[in-house]
Amino acid sequence: MKLFDVYPLNDIVIEKAMGSYVWDDQGQKYLDLYGGHAVISIGHTHPHYVKRIEEQLHKVGFYSNSIKIPLQVELAEKLGKISGKEDYQLFLCNSGAEANENALKLASFYNGRKKIIAFKKAFHGRTSLAVAATDNPNIVAPVNQTDNVIFLPFNDEAALEAAFRQNEISSVIIEGIQGVGGINIASDSFLKKVRSLCDGYNAVFIADSVQCGYGRSGKFYSHDFAGVDADIYTMAKGMGNGFPVGAISIAPKIQPKHFMLGTTFGGNHLACAAALAVLEVIENEELINNAKTVGDYLMEELKKLPHIKEVRGRGLMIGIDLPEELNMVKKNLLFKHKIFTGEAKPNVIRLLPALNITRGEADIFLQAIKTEIG
Ligand SMILES: Cc1ncc(COP(=O)(O)O)c(C=O)c1O
Repeated sequence: MKLFDVYPLNDIVIEKAMGSYVWDDQGQKYLDLYGGHAVISIGHTHPHYVKRIEEQLHKVGFYSNSIKIPLQVELAEKLGKISGKEDYQLFLCNSGAEANENALKLASFYNGRKKIIAFKKAFHGRTSLAVAATDNPNIVAPVNQTDNVIFLPFNDEAALEAAFRQNEISSVIIEGIQGVGGINIASDSFLKKVRSLCDGYNAVFIADSVQCGYGRSGKFYSHDFAGVDADIYTMAKGMGNGFPVGAISIAPKIQPKHFMLGTTFGGNHLACAAALAVLEVIENEELINNAKTVGDYLMEELKKLPHIKEVRGRGLMIGIDLPEELNMVKKNLLFKHKIFTGEAKPNVIRLLPALNITRGEADIFLQAIKTEIG
């Protein structure tokens, strides 16, 4: 059997990884500012993470959600504390799409409505409702198409108000910083408007924090910058530092009923051990502060460089918008300078490094990009 060919691949095989570095099968070392798409939050193979998972594996790796799993309670308590949402409730699943799928479904159970507001350039995942709320017709199969999703321009308060007046809205789903869409920040005043309209119409505010959450922005959820709470936060990526785990954090006003949500693998013992290890490292090593400090430094320095159209972002979620004539920079960073970065269409380099990247590692990148565009 061969692989189903759904990704264009770089001809690189990674065999070893540590901190912000990976090594290929030829022994070549690379600086990783991509983290396998914002997944590596506490650095590759962090010793505490390895130890916590290893120890758990020797005890019990999996049992279903039909029994009590104290690690889930421990995780809920820790996440509630670090995210500043101690009165919220945790439902565990396995990926970002699944988190959004459950959030949209839960919102509809809550208010009995069907219509969802999503935004231009949004990405929420590839499963049925999540992909229907994603602004990319190329990845929406005919079976996923629905008129239950209304796409509005990002940060357009008048359009949002009009959509609420004209429809019975169940939920609004919004990334605090659009990732796949090219690092676009939801303005504070727009998120406040989402909050007040959801309150006014009893709709559910869903903060997709799958990519921009978990401390990456310099706050636990990037939506926190607006100073308002969402009703449901969805998360995955950085939550497990590579172990597949996702979750939704649910406001107290949304009450559970047995069997309304469920999962076989979600919240298994190993996933909880991984997620707990991540939170412990984020807390002990003050990684949210580091994300802010190194992120601010990177953006400040990048803004001094010539030829860049715009530098956007918060913390360690940074977009470098380049003109078309500089479309080789990302490839050159990888193959000449041995630095992994991410991209967004049409020509935006995305930096999504581990939250414990050092200033020295940031300097290596700055030096490399200077030689490419300076
Ligand atoms: C904002 C956002 N939401 C949801 C997802 C989907 O997550 P997953 O690939 O884990 O299903 C992604 C993935 O890139 C994302 O960036």
